[in-house]
Amino acid sequence: MGYARALGAGVVGVAGCPVEIEADIANGLPTMRMSGLPDAALHEAGDRIRAAITNSRLPWPDRRLTVNLLPAAQPKHGSGFDLPVACAVLAAGGAVPAAALATRALIGELGLDGRVRPVRGVLPMAVALAATGVTEVVVPSGNAGEATLVPGLAIHPADDLAAVVGHLRGTRPLARTAVPAPAPAPHRLDLAEVAGQELGRRALEVAAAGGHHLALLGPPGAGKTMLAERLPTVLPPLDDAAALEVTALHSLAGVLGEGALVRHPPFQAPHHTSTLPALVGGGSGMARPGALSLAHRGVLFLDEAPEFSGRALEALRQPLETGRIRVRRAGGGTDYPARVQLVVAANPCPCAQVAADGLCPCTSIAKRRYTGRLSGALRDRIDIQLALLPVRAADLTASAGSEGSAAVAARVAAARAVAARRWAPLGCATNAEVSGAVLRHPPYALRPADTRQLRDRLDRGVLTARGYDRALRLAWTVADLDGRDRPAADDIAEALALRTGALT
Ligand SMILES: Nc1ncnc2c1ncn2[C@@H]1O[C@H](COP(=O)(O)OP(=O)(O)O)[C@@H](O)[C@H]1O
Ligand SMILES: [Mg+2]
Ligand SMILES: [Zn+2]
Repeated sequence: MGYARALGAGVVGVAGCPVEIEADIANGLPTMRMSGLPDAALHEAGDRIRAAITNSRLPWPDRRLTVNLLPAAQPKHGSGFDLPVACAVLAAGGAVPAAALATRALIGELGLDGRVRPVRGVLPMAVALAATGVTEVVVPSGNAGEATLVPGLAIHPADDLAAVVGHLRGTRPLARTAVPAPAPAPHRLDLAEVAGQELGRRALEVAAAGGHHLALLGPPGAGKTMLAERLPTVLPPLDDAAALEVTALHSLAGVLGEGALVRHPPFQAPHHTSTLPALVGGGSGMARPGALSLAHRGVLFLDEAPEFSGRALEALRQPLETGRIRVRRAGGGTDYPARVQLVVAANPCPCAQVAADGLCPCTSIAKRRYTGRLSGALRDRIDIQLALLPVRAADLTASAGSEGSAAVAARVAAARAVAARRWAPLGCATNAEVSGAVLRHPPYALRPADTRQLRDRLDRGVLTARGYDRALRLAWTVADLDGRDRPAADDIAEALALRTGALT
């Protein structure tokens, strides 16, 4: 007979939630009754915990065992309850002191042999535990790095249940993990590697400075992928709050690795054959953020974008507007952050032959239909739509190297600061977020002499009203980069030059 409590944590949406575990041993036939988890998870957890305890040569109470996870009504997820449940059971049976469970929390999945296995979402769990006043958390060794990112918590990594029991008994305390060094820049790429392609490089800089989505069209080998991969290298690093938010998303997806803080804008390039859950998030049990949310506050790159399914492209439309993705699933939806800068690359035609000179079997109708696949869903949100030509031999072999990412990043940061200050009263940070209506009216309306080219195009029907607004937004970014307080005719001309590949 005995009763004990332990503290664990689960995940609700993107947040961690403290979970209290009660274990009660009563006289009666040996049974185990567990409640407070989804049914499927309950069965598996019971079997695992029992095997882990007995295989660790620890006493399993051969009487009537009841385990309850609180709050019972909350639909908590995660496989990290095994360890606190096992410890509550052991404490109820007197195998570890109940007092040892009063001040600390435990997280971890158990293997049948008693091994403590890493779980997803330890960072948000640790954040939630710290908020309730917990000062010590025992976590799987593989998750120790991320847990230490939460201030005020002592983190003890554990490899197996027996070691945790030694810690709780005070006979063999577990070591305490130190905070890992911040992750090095994940991208060792540099813009200096891109030869020539002045317009492509400029487009990347403007996209970075204004937060504009970017479409790169051009034949295979033109350097579309090369340019896209280098966008994160010219974006500003994440501030503290953004870094923690992004790192927590990566923790939930189980892709955090060493667990160091993600300080740089992430880059995600899902393949066009990716499933919808892989792209936008979902999955059974504890949902997983998809590439879209792993790219939160960074870059989502759709290479060969017309090859993505219509459903996939359509699924991206709403998040591009709201910065969030709602993943619907049985037992309620989950809302993930998804504020990304989108880069799409496309060949001009489906045959993917080097066709810069237009000599390929595709008809112009086939070509238009191909890039047109992007149109409906995404076209309207992509400010820069650039056609790239293949790099010239002279550029590729030129001895004078191209400018590197650091120099470009410095200009980008300066331009972003100007824009952020200007739009702060509107609640916007970048030019890309500002509505066309704001830019067309005082105090931001431009001089008629400067916008003549735009108005002519609109009147001749070669520019849509949306295209007009996009050109205005881009012109502001060009002006910010070049240090003018408002765009002039030249800036508008450059803005139009950044739309040579306008998606049909
Ligand atoms: N502007 C460039 N400067 C240097 N190398 C280039 C350039 N463009 C293409 N390349 C070379 O060609 C390869 C293919 O480029 P990639 O970016 O994959 O083209 P795309 O995505 O347009 O098909 C690159 O890995 C690089 O070696
Ligand atoms: Mg490519
Ligand atoms: Zn073709």
